[in-house]
Amino acid sequence: MAFPYTRMRRMRRDDFSRRLMREHRLGADDLILPVFIHEHSGRAPVASMPGVERQSIDELLRTAEQAVELKIPALVLFPVTAPEAKSLDAVAAWDENGLAQRAIRALKQRFPQLGVITDVALDPYTSHGQDGLVDAGGYVTNDDTVEALVKQALSHAEAGADVVSPSDMMDGRIGAIREALEEAGHVNTRILAYSAKYASAFYGPFRDAVGSAGALGKGNKYTYQMDPANSDEALREVGLDLDEGADMVMVKPGLPYLDIVRRVKDHFGAPTFVYQVSGEYAMLKAAALNGWLDERACALEALTAIKRAGADGVLTYFALDAARWLKEE
Ligand code: PBG
Repeated sequence: MAFPYTRMRRMRRDDFSRRLMREHRLGADDLILPVFIHEHSGRAPVASMPGVERQSIDELLRTAEQAVELKIPALVLFPVTAPEAKSLDAVAAWDENGLAQRAIRALKQRFPQLGVITDVALDPYTSHGQDGLVDAGGYVTNDDTVEALVKQALSHAEAGADVVSPSDMMDGRIGAIREALEEAGHVNTRILAYSAKYASAFYGPFRDAVGSAGALGKGNKYTYQMDPANSDEALREVGLDLDEGADMVMVKPGLPYLDIVRRVKDHFGAPTFVYQVSGEYAMLKAAALNGWLDERACALEALTAIKRAGADGVLTYFALDAARWLKEE
């Protein structure tokens, strides 16, 4: 008879023993900060993401300084493109003087030790808001898109990006980008692959933030992003990306997909990241602003749960706040 010799509550009685048996610890090292950048000066709020702002390159540098002070290892850039810079062929994506490329150079010059991750996908640059090039019927074509993504990734690497992060879900793009980087001598540019990226409705606020929602309209991304009902398929996607040369893989979104994170980590043991996406942030923020949830407690709980599921790190809009809260604890 286990009880009363085994009392699970015994170890929970005091703070010291709770701390001793704590299995996972969230720290600043686990956090990656996504930043929206724009061509305007100053900052502009994102309505559906309270506390998140689009930032000029000057403001980005201020944000980066805070990230460095808080020991956040890296940030990831999401440019907001003006409607007139969008086109069917997305050429602005690999403009060496584009917003992303200028932001990378500014960051690496000022904060060489801060990891700079870039988003490789065409949706900020296409007039239709899809992540790739489309044929006459509106279908996102794979191989042409991969060629464009290779140019975009190379332009980021040339500007000094430490990590390129394809979020487009085209087949074969990791291998093509890896090969091009090797040939160009960028042998140490890492690839963080959005491997298991689901066709999720939780990306809504992000599409407002980068202004791709209007362009996308009633369109959807079902022909390339994964069906939320699938799990085995995620393992196949991750396996392919690792075979093609990904250094890190990602599961996205976070909280509703922690079963996928666990399977991926157990199966491959590779560096695995989770994107706590805009909709997850918006839900927590909205409830907190209504006084319905304790923001700090819930955000830290969600981030810790993501680690517990097997993530090595989390892309989160809470990164700066979370790092501050963790410092206070
Ligand atoms: C687009 C991209 C998206 C996100 C990151 N990169 C949106 C999409 O696929 O439509 C979503 C991030 C978030 O919701 O926070 N390549």
